Amino acid sequence: MATATHMHGRIGESIKRKEDARFLRGKGNYLDDFVLPDMLEMAILRSPHAHARIKSIDTTAAAAMPGVIAVVTGELMAQHKLAWMPTLSGDTQAVLATDKVRFQGQEVAAVIAETRYQAEDARDAILVDYEILPAVTSPEGAKAAGAPVIRDDKEGQKDNHIYHWEAGNQDTTQAAFASAHKVVRLTSFYPRCHPAPLETCGCIADVNGATGKATIYMTSQAPHAIRTVFALVTGLPEQQIRIISPDIGGGFGNKVPVYPGYVVATAASLLIGRPVKWVEDRTENLISTGFARDFHMTGDLAVDKNGKMLALRVHLDSDNGAFFSDAQPTKFKAGLFHIVTGSYDIPTAHVTADGYYTNKAPGGVAFRCSFRVTEASYLIERLVTNAAIELGIDQAEFRMRNFIKPEQFPYTSATGWVYDSGDYPKAMDVALQKLGYDELRKDVEARRKKGEVTGIGIASFTEVVGAGHGADFDILGLRMFDSAELRVHPTGKALLRMGVKSQGQGHETTFAQIVTEELGIPAADIAVEEGDTDTAPYGLGTYASRSTPVAGAATAMVARKLRDKARKIASHLLEADEEDLEWRVSKFQVKGSPDRSKTIQEIAFAAYTNLPEGMEAGLEGVHYYDPPNMTYPFGTYAVVVDIDKGTGQVKVRRMVAVDDCGVRINPMIVEGQIHGGLTEGFGIAFMELITFDSEGNCIGSNFTDYLLPTAWETPRFELGETVTPSPHHPLGAKGVGESATVGSPAAYVNAVIDALSPYGITNIDMPVGPDKVWAALRSKGVTE
Ligand code: CDP
Repeated sequence: MATATHMHGRIGESIKRKEDARFLRGKGNYLDDFVLPDMLEMAILRSPHAHARIKSIDTTAAAAMPGVIAVVTGELMAQHKLAWMPTLSGDTQAVLATDKVRFQGQEVAAVIAETRYQAEDARDAILVDYEILPAVTSPEGAKAAGAPVIRDDKEGQKDNHIYHWEAGNQDTTQAAFASAHKVVRLTSFYPRCHPAPLETCGCIADVNGATGKATIYMTSQAPHAIRTVFALVTGLPEQQIRIISPDIGGGFGNKVPVYPGYVVATAASLLIGRPVKWVEDRTENLISTGFARDFHMTGDLAVDKNGKMLALRVHLDSDNGAFFSDAQPTKFKAGLFHIVTGSYDIPTAHVTADGYYTNKAPGGVAFRCSFRVTEASYLIERLVTNAAIELGIDQAEFRMRNFIKPEQFPYTSATGWVYDSGDYPKAMDVALQKLGYDELRKDVEARRKKGEVTGIGIASFTEVVGAGHGADFDILGLRMFDSAELRVHPTGKALLRMGVKSQGQGHETTFAQIVTEELGIPAADIAVEEGDTDTAPYGLGTYASRSTPVAGAATAMVARKLRDKARKIASHLLEADEEDLEWRVSKFQVKGSPDRSKTIQEIAFAAYTNLPEGMEAGLEGVHYYDPPNMTYPFGTYAVVVDIDKGTGQVKVRRMVAVDDCGVRINPMIVEGQIHGGLTEGFGIAFMELITFDSEGNCIGSNFTDYLLPTAWETPRFELGETVTPSPHHPLGAKGVGESATVGSPAAYVNAVIDALSPYGITNIDMPVGPDKVWAALRSKGVTE
């Protein structure tokens, strides 16, 4: 029984995850677990070519195969005006190709059959006659004179350029560079990688012929936004569309966009009158759905003679693939890349960005990242380490000298962001002490004298999470607020429904904890539901670590609304003025009279049985929260590596990660999020790569070629924390889900570059595999 001083599951308590009871027992409900009566299966035929004109498609043999119900082509979709669909960046994307294929793996046709085996066999019997065209596989190729125009479907599109975008101030930046003591340049490529969730994407579309209602089970991180997009694309009335996003086996941004498979399955169910299931296999997921990164970046940092940063100039070319479908707010063509000034007090900056079409899969999803923040953080943290090495200043000292100081917050960056709070020197101090930095530096020098190749890398990242504010942040015009609806039942148990959607982050636990903190109902008594658009309040979904900053705030606000009503009911029950009551964890009590009190459970019962005259019955409410600003989590990561000169093999000896995400709702869950992110960052830094040959063939289309780290490769992590609350979040919390994926790649690579710096090696692009390290050492004449 909860007492006034202890309540199970309040903020700050590492209670076990409620959802794990079903996940660990195999009782989760993932998309592929759903089997509907009369359900059909769909298989998609994909293009083997990166760029080719479709001369003809012959479906006769496929249509005659056993179990086949329908073969769908772009031509059929076009008859229903569904051959093309809008993307999240306001471009268009082919649902099934009609004119040309523009990347290897593009959707060309679909077979709907009684079983998946039958659907796949018939898919292989479709004959497509292609005229192969030259492929473009990089921004450089896209710009080249005479490059084929990939998007010749678009009126007025004469080349492969998509957008030009700028932030900051060119004049003041130029002037600062003119007066600089030194300018350090880094040219760097953040390669294409993939969120690669354990569960691939898929859906079951079930359009009821009698009612016309479309129920679509879908692995979606943003079910409400998808419902609205579906209504706009198909013309179906929005109340006739129900998206149910069940348990999701990892999203990381991969499950934000609308994919052609969803549209085709829904159209097929509508035409056939039976449910249609489509689930991607691993290769389909890796080659055709939401890739991330693929940014070519050049950064120049101007520094004075005291090692103070004066200005930053950055240009980037973005490789967007065949359709511009980046998932990001409409205002920001290059996402939130202009957080690129990072944790440093840089007086002026100028950022330019150009986007290009190439013959590669579209995507540009926010892979555990707020819309290109990862690339920005990587560039500035790599550049700062290179500058420190070139200037002969210790990496940590150079950062300390240039950090935004705690007293400068709220801080307006050179590109116009207002950072809410931060204490960067403190996070750095905690990390360095945990590492034993000074001793380690001496040790590195001693080892180097013995011929060992070893180094320390630091990254002191600042990122920006929690989109909106709605006036600045939207997806296709939908403002990025979020919501929570709370119902307290007569017995004092509660149901909390959210506009966001967990993909494994533990929302059922942490959002219950927020209600526990604010309303005194034990977390175990609160059911949290997400993902069903017929029952959950409207929200923009979960990505870019926005759940806690936005929906977590909505939860606190709705609980406070209910507490205000509870106070009125308590005043009635206790026959005391509202002002004479005080809130004590889980009850209202008369000030100075602890024996005169009413628990939240007693108040909830009274809300249905014994109300003050004229008061509406019930204890429930909804809150739509539009954050006044983003939150700015930060941290310092430090990595120690040893490199084998003979093989180029890099071994991470230590990895210390100090994170500050403001107030932690559930510290254990936060640490789990950080462990996951550090592992993903490790994979990106050292192993994961999706690349293309000159014909546009995708290399990295399965887990033999696309190398994910397992427990065997992953280093041990040593975590630390500081707590700098967000001043505008009702609980002082900032997001954390993506911090470690954003911050860690630069720390790992900085350690490698620090180790190689005595040999004059200043950059190796990720993934830093042994082949590249070995070649770099050889190029400097270093052998075993
Ligand atoms: O949007 P997403 O859920 O991916 O990211 P998040 O808001 O950073 O939250 C990830 C998980 O960590 C959720 O269960 C959060 O409630 C939890 N968290 C926390 O306990 N304390 C924080 N300050 C931030 C996140």
